[in-house]
Amino acid sequence: MTETANLSQIETLEADVSAAIGAAADEAALEDVRVSAIGKKGSVSELMKTLGKMSPEERQVMGPALNGLKSRVTDAIAARKTALEEAALEARLVNERLDVTLPVLPGPTSDGRVHPVSQVIDEITAIFGDMGFAVAEGPDIETDDLNFTALNFPPGHPAREMHDTFFFNEKEDGERLLLRTHTSPVQIRTMRSQEPPIRVIIPGRTYRCDSDQTHTPMFHQVEGLVIDKESHIGHLKWILEEFCKSFFEVPSVKMRFRPSYFPFTEPSMEVDIGCDRSGREVKLGEGDDWMEILGCGMVHPNVLRNCGLDPDVYQGFAWGIGIDRLAMLKYGMPDLRAFFEADVRWLKHYGFRPLDMPSLVGGLSR
Ligand code: DAH
Repeated sequence: MTETANLSQIETLEADVSAAIGAAADEAALEDVRVSAIGKKGSVSELMKTLGKMSPEERQVMGPALNGLKSRVTDAIAARKTALEEAALEARLVNERLDVTLPVLPGPTSDGRVHPVSQVIDEITAIFGDMGFAVAEGPDIETDDLNFTALNFPPGHPAREMHDTFFFNEKEDGERLLLRTHTSPVQIRTMRSQEPPIRVIIPGRTYRCDSDQTHTPMFHQVEGLVIDKESHIGHLKWILEEFCKSFFEVPSVKMRFRPSYFPFTEPSMEVDIGCDRSGREVKLGEGDDWMEILGCGMVHPNVLRNCGLDPDVYQGFAWGIGIDRLAMLKYGMPDLRAFFEADVRWLKHYGFRPLDMPSLVGGLSR
């Protein structure tokens, strides 16, 4: 074996290995090339093993030549690996591209439906959010004090009886919790924890022992509360009228404000909306029938006092709307009980597409 032969052998091997590296089409093929060249029994490694048998003079020439070969092959493999990885990533980016503007594909996402109650809560939140209201919440299990006493229903007050309350068993200390009969206790929670000016809406579940076509033991209300120094009943009427027009998506709504009584407001009113109830469905804006949708009034001075607010300084108004009834009216659903029967056929018919989020700009319902 002469020096020149060895050097040319190195050159040939380098050319072969380089060609194989260049030809490796993916990382697996490249790995095969690596093993066959610089793996334990690879062609380059085998050649390096011959160094031991060389004369010192030969080794002086061949040592650096072989080491150079090994490091060039190693570098070439690393460079090819990086290039293949980049190409693979590029290919994935091209192939796995998702056009989010395409219509939703048939399947679970397009089959699912948003319950009309959730839809209506989103619509209400969009409207009042646009008017500058924040959302407040409270628990479904409430104390007697917050559900009644602090709202100016003293113990034994006859108005308590009208609430058909679900009570829990009395606790050892005599306290009896209940399922809140309205969202009004969250008025108290809000006034006790926030400084006026207050502008909140309070959507949530409420409970009363009652069931017929327009009553279910669990139903939904949205409370509204405005407290500052000069809000008056004119503001209240304007807000409710604007709300109804926005919500029903019509230029005008027939509304009737009737004097009424609630312990926590003075004066108090109930509001009905004009509709036609002659057919199976309730139709809005036609006929001579009325459907009660909300109660409202100026917050009673006793309620303000119970929350540590001075009624000579602060005043405001509140309302409570039946969400389910609004949904029935707007979407023409005849029986409230069907809302909570969890019948998928009903939901398919009356439900809303999950990605159609209600907004004042994009449209509330479509
Ligand atoms: N909480 C009342 C009910 O469920 C509704 C209501 C009436 C709420 C008047 C109010 C209000 O905030 O001012 O019957």
